[in-house]
Amino acid sequence: MRILVTGGAGFLGSHLVDRLIGEGHRALVLDDLSTGRIAHLAGAWRGMAFRRGSVLDPALVTTLVGACDRVVHLASPVGVERIVARPEETERVIAGGGRAVLAAATALGVPCVVVSSSEVYGFAPRTPVAEEDVPRRIVGASPRLSYPRAKLALDRAARAAAATGARVLVVRPFNLVGARQDGEGGAVLPRFCARARAGLPLEVHGDGAQRRVFLDVRDAARMLADLALREAWPVDAVNLGGTEEWTVAALAHRVVDRLGAPVTVRHVAPPPTRGGVEVERRVPDLSRLRALVDARPRRTVDDAILALAHDLGAAPAERVA
Ligand SMILES: NC(=O)c1ccc[n+]([C@@H]2O[C@H](COP(=O)([O-])OP(=O)(O)OC[C@H]3O[C@@H](n4cnc5c(N)ncnc54)[C@H](O)[C@@H]3O)[C@@H](O)[C@H]2O)c1
Repeated sequence: MRILVTGGAGFLGSHLVDRLIGEGHRALVLDDLSTGRIAHLAGAWRGMAFRRGSVLDPALVTTLVGACDRVVHLASPVGVERIVARPEETERVIAGGGRAVLAAATALGVPCVVVSSSEVYGFAPRTPVAEEDVPRRIVGASPRLSYPRAKLALDRAARAAAATGARVLVVRPFNLVGARQDGEGGAVLPRFCARARAGLPLEVHGDGAQRRVFLDVRDAARMLADLALREAWPVDAVNLGGTEEWTVAALAHRVVDRLGAPVTVRHVAPPPTRGGVEVERRVPDLSRLRALVDARPRRTVDDAILALAHDLGAAPAERVA
């Protein structure tokens, strides 16, 4: 099969491309390289074609969708810092770009996976949160909310398309971790690993009691590929996440421990850019995912820490010993 992967030069997208090619498929990547990197695709050139461009270009999107058997739409601004700095652009790319991909896929009859986010559940979700718990709207004035609001609009448009019989599936990832993840956008694990490697104290925002469930990106890419390649989707939306739950503070100590870094962990005030919006605990209900694909993680958070350290050129403790 030939699969169009928008945002395929990014963190999750490039691991998905690796996975698809490893399974004998071909990938066509559309990415504007705003945060993605060509280097992420270094292992995939033999089975892949790359097109630099934007999902905001409907003619280009239609041409590329028409050349493929499946679409996985990931292209999106990501990361708290970027979103807060450019809320209008965030909404324009997520909602406008997503609409262009959906319109092309439904018009041409190409099955399409739309990658949404756990953030569509808002900031006071039930635990664990199931697919039907998605709220009607996300209320609040913070520019931080441009991301979940636009994702929710796209998520809803995709489910509306599925309701008319189009082969469209919404996938809502929870926290993913691993190699190629960019700490600049605000993701916690690459930030911790980079500071440990630089010999700097790890900074935990607030008390670090926020709990998150993490999944190694290689497991996420395998599950996403299995979802995308299915012949039928009996549901319109599915959570994609792991089972390993950590507090942010415990995660910081784990990084120090795993990398054998001679650094301390200190607690600092959360930066104002977080927009004052933080959910204490976010845990996915994975029943639907388990019914569709093999959802057992094969990697752990420790594996993700080591993969990130390897990316950064660090020498984890056990390799030094
Ligand atoms: N990483 C996570 O934990 C996580 C969690 C929930 C949802 N997601 C979703 O997964 C998807 C991938 O996220 P990621 O973490 O890999 O981030 P990423 O920033 O690494 O990937 C996004 C990619 O989209 C590209 N892109 C951005 N705007 C574009 C445009 N207008 N046209 C074409 N390409 C464009 C970027 O260059 C980048 O390669 C996103 O839709 C994100 O919302 C990720």
